[in-house]
Amino acid sequence: MRAIVTTAAGDVRVMKVEERPDPQPKRGQVVIRVKAAGLNFADILARQGLYPDGPPKPCVMGYEVSGTVEAVGEGVDTPMIGEPVIAMTRFGGQAELVAVAAAQTFPKPEDLSFEAAAAIPVNYLTAWALLVTMGGLKKEEAVLIHNAGGGVGLAALDIAKHIGAETFGTASTGKHDFLRARGLDHPIDYRQQDWLPALMSSTGNRGVELIIDPLGGANWKKSYRALRATGRMGVFGMSVASASGITGKIRALKAILAMPRFNPIGLMNRNKSVFGLNLGHMWGEGEKVAGWMREIMRGLSEGWIRPHVDRSFPFEQIADAHTHIESRKNIGKVVLVP
Ligand SMILES: NC(=O)c1ccc[n+]([C@@H]2O[C@H](COP(=O)([O-])OP(=O)(O)OC[C@H]3O[C@@H](n4cnc5c(N)ncnc54)[C@H](OP(=O)(O)O)[C@@H]3O)[C@@H](O)[C@H]2O)c1
Repeated sequence: MRAIVTTAAGDVRVMKVEERPDPQPKRGQVVIRVKAAGLNFADILARQGLYPDGPPKPCVMGYEVSGTVEAVGEGVDTPMIGEPVIAMTRFGGQAELVAVAAAQTFPKPEDLSFEAAAAIPVNYLTAWALLVTMGGLKKEEAVLIHNAGGGVGLAALDIAKHIGAETFGTASTGKHDFLRARGLDHPIDYRQQDWLPALMSSTGNRGVELIIDPLGGANWKKSYRALRATGRMGVFGMSVASASGITGKIRALKAILAMPRFNPIGLMNRNKSVFGLNLGHMWGEGEKVAGWMREIMRGLSEGWIRPHVDRSFPFEQIADAHTHIESRKNIGKVVLVP
């Protein structure tokens, strides 16, 4: 099979399409012929050498795919063969074939394209965990979605709209019209201005009840300040560190030094809470994650989950796909097709 191999830490030139042995299904597994694979910000951080959870290089990245079941291992029903599925993959998804536990697959609805299907798992599960499971967002509360134009951001917007919350979102200006059309109530340009005074002035200085923040570093201090009493802040990324080579290492170090340190007494006296999410550390909680996925698939059939594919790149154009995201051009999901 062909696979996208990250050969070393570095710029986009370290990625190559190479031949690898076809995977064989172990007990309880299926092998999927991949039609589309999701590209995530974590893949970029892993290539840059800034993602501690990434596999040792050379490696094949990829957390999610859509495709058809090609073969099944012992203990899996043979009728699955040929079925279109969506699956979460613990790396290895950016390849023509991938072996995964049958329990990590979900039927792909017929009217959903393979590209759109590959845009669901990571973005929507992350947004679900942040907004619903851990963030407890309620109707008429206000939520601030940082990076609202990214894959997780758009997913969070769908879920927040369905809940009936008032939505604020930071994004590059060029994405604001699209975000308004998707239902974002208050887009904020966080690149030409400081987003905190803008948010405070449009909330009558009260702030918001929930903030989801993948930027990290000093931004977490500002997000914490922007919480209204009973507010919750979900931290789940460190986008500010993104860069190849020594620049990335310096940015990551600066971000770590600029992070807030939370004190339980301070949290208590300010009526605020802070929580963290790492979806990549949920593999031991398969049933819980599968439950979230069932809710997401229900939302898809009801029409309020609307995966948006920005662009799809052939495997051979993997460098362009990474550059597209790193230069902040994407609105929503970027997928890779074999
Ligand atoms: N913890 C978890 O379980 C988990 C799961 C999924 C994602 N994440 C994190 O969530 C964040 C968003 O992920 P995603 O997959 O939704 O991203 P994405 O779709 O690839 O979106 C990337 C967007 O982020 C914004 N951005 C902010 N800082 C950036 C930087 N330094 N360089 C390039 N772009 C930057 C850009 O949009 P604007 O300029 O318009 O804002 C860019 O278009 C990442 O930090 C990722 O690691 C965490």
